[in-house]
Amino acid sequence: MKDSSRSAGPPVSADARRTAIEAVVRIESDGAYANVLLPKMLAETELEARDRGLVTELVYGSTRRKRALDHVVDRFLVADPPPVARAALRIGAHQLIEMGTPPHAAVSATVQVTPKRFRGLVNAVLRKVATAASAGIEYPSQAVALSYPDWIVARLIEELGEQRAVDALRAMNLPARSQRREDGYVQDQSSQQVAAVVPAARGDLVLDLCAAPGGKSTEIAGRGASVVAVDLHPGRAGLIASNANRLGCSDQLEGNGVAVVVADGTAPPFPRGTFDAALVDAPCSGLGALRRRPDARWRIKPTNISDLAALQRQLLESAAPLVVPGGTLVYSVCTLSAKETTEVIGATGAELAALGFAAPSSSLLLPTADRDGMFWSVWNRGGGS
Ligand SMILES: C[S@@+](CC[C@H](N)C(=O)[O-])C[C@H]1O[C@@H](n2cnc3c(N)ncnc32)[C@H](O)[C@@H]1O
Repeated sequence: MKDSSRSAGPPVSADARRTAIEAVVRIESDGAYANVLLPKMLAETELEARDRGLVTELVYGSTRRKRALDHVVDRFLVADPPPVARAALRIGAHQLIEMGTPPHAAVSATVQVTPKRFRGLVNAVLRKVATAASAGIEYPSQAVALSYPDWIVARLIEELGEQRAVDALRAMNLPARSQRREDGYVQDQSSQQVAAVVPAARGDLVLDLCAAPGGKSTEIAGRGASVVAVDLHPGRAGLIASNANRLGCSDQLEGNGVAVVVADGTAPPFPRGTFDAALVDAPCSGLGALRRRPDARWRIKPTNISDLAALQRQLLESAAPLVVPGGTLVYSVCTLSAKETTEVIGATGAELAALGFAAPSSSLLLPTADRDGMFWSVWNRGGGS
């Protein structure tokens, strides 16, 4: 089983490689979240913009691809190496196998930033990896070649079909690209599509029940509606307020404002029939956005998906009565699993129908090189004038 996603890259500075090794050790040994840790580490360095991009590729890439990389590296090891040596080996192998860095540069520059006592080991193993890479690497299974846990590959193949699943999994091994909206907010294009299906005429009152960091709330407010943006976590709710302030949508009196409320969306503190539209952009496994959170595929477990599906159903059923007759309800998740998408919609069907919601229209966007995977459903509530 061969994987052939290689792209040539410019040389990396020693400081960049050193920072990358330290980050990989902290992600692996301390359980740090890559997308939280790395921006903080980069903010503390004096690296140039180009080197920052390369550190990100080394850390994110070697974290996403660690199962495939370890498969190649482990053939040349007799025992599990200490974390810093493992990190150097992954980063070196990632350059050799995935980034197309010339072997001499990848090996010698990685060895140079490896602690002295592991240099011999890292040098010997990376040389063998370079030879193996130039001969073409065979992987024992699709899950190893694609570098995902077996259960994710098996589940997506079962639910999406082999070709669609493999294309989606491959796309999520690529670096994430986001678009800058007209107002300057950086947001994935699939998220922008979800926000766009929420009606937001001037004078409308819209509920965003799971709103932090406020990407969709601010887009909806930008179209003229007043948005009540709820999030369970006070720290995350603060992000909504700062994004709304920064983007100039914090003025409730003028409309196009975002009012932030810290509350549990399963028990929202609003009367029935308050909102012209409600968005439930629910917490999810993120199986459609794995390129943004490179360590997430190794953390998430099948039981998390069942727990999240129960929460998603509760959130949706809590939001529905808050929508006025004639109003709109939107459910969205950046995941691909049937349990969190079509099964949540199916499970809430009877309750929503009893409230007068017509059958929803649903969309599933699979992840590509340019966008995250996203699922959403839109219901209209009957009885409006
Ligand atoms: C997918 S994110 C929302 C992203 C946001 N809509 C945006 O576009 O920027 C899900 C959010 O739900 C929040 N959350 C989790 N459980 C919640 C609950 N019970 N009630 C309200 N918010 C919750 C999380 O803190 C997280 O910020």
